[in-house]
Amino acid sequence: VDDAEDDWTYSQKFDYIHGRLLFSCFNDMAGVVRKAYDELEPGGYLEMQEINCRLHGVDDTTKGTAIQRWTDLIIEGAARFGKDWECGARLKEFFFAAGFEEVVELHYAFPTNMWPKSRHKKLVGLYQMTNMLDGMQGISTRVLTKGLGMSIEEMELFLVDVREALQNRHIHGYWPV
Ligand SMILES: C[S@@+](CC[C@H](N)C(=O)[O-])C[C@H]1O[C@@H](n2cnc3c(N)ncnc32)[C@H](O)[C@@H]1O
Repeated sequence: VDDAEDDWTYSQKFDYIHGRLLFSCFNDMAGVVRKAYDELEPGGYLEMQEINCRLHGVDDTTKGTAIQRWTDLIIEGAARFGKDWECGARLKEFFFAAGFEEVVELHYAFPTNMWPKSRHKKLVGLYQMTNMLDGMQGISTRVLTKGLGMSIEEMELFLVDVREALQNRHIHGYWPV
């Protein structure tokens, strides 16, 4: 309903503010963290859950793959609109800069697919792969066409390779969360 980058005009302060998967939304994530700080009661909490859009790998298998190139390109495309799609990785810095104390950062990973050995990570990977297969076109269209100047046809052809790489269990990639 409201743009979190506008002035916050709530009539009361909050004990707890939560945000999740907002890395793509703001021109200035640090500014939103500052606004949240200002709207909290003393002793209140801000919790943010974010993904770093850049693909990471546990080994070299991600290097030179279409899925690696895709995340590099969407981050570059988003930057053309003034958006930092890696801002999730800087939240701790933003929290401290805003004035928060006792900042706790917990690290998780979303595997690209079911490549990990453990049952739990396989399940998380399955969810993430399904999510990304579903969302890939929507995530890509504006940043790759308007941002980087690809034609729709060029993008769709590229995404064929990206989807194939996403499902390839020999590629050991993950997104830091
Ligand atoms: C990826 S969704 C995440 C939704 C939800 N937090 C979750 O984790 O399921 C991003 C949400 O942020 C909202 N959004 C985008 N830009 C925003 C802005 N400037 N201020 C507030 N919300 C925004 C979108 O409408 C969308 O609902």
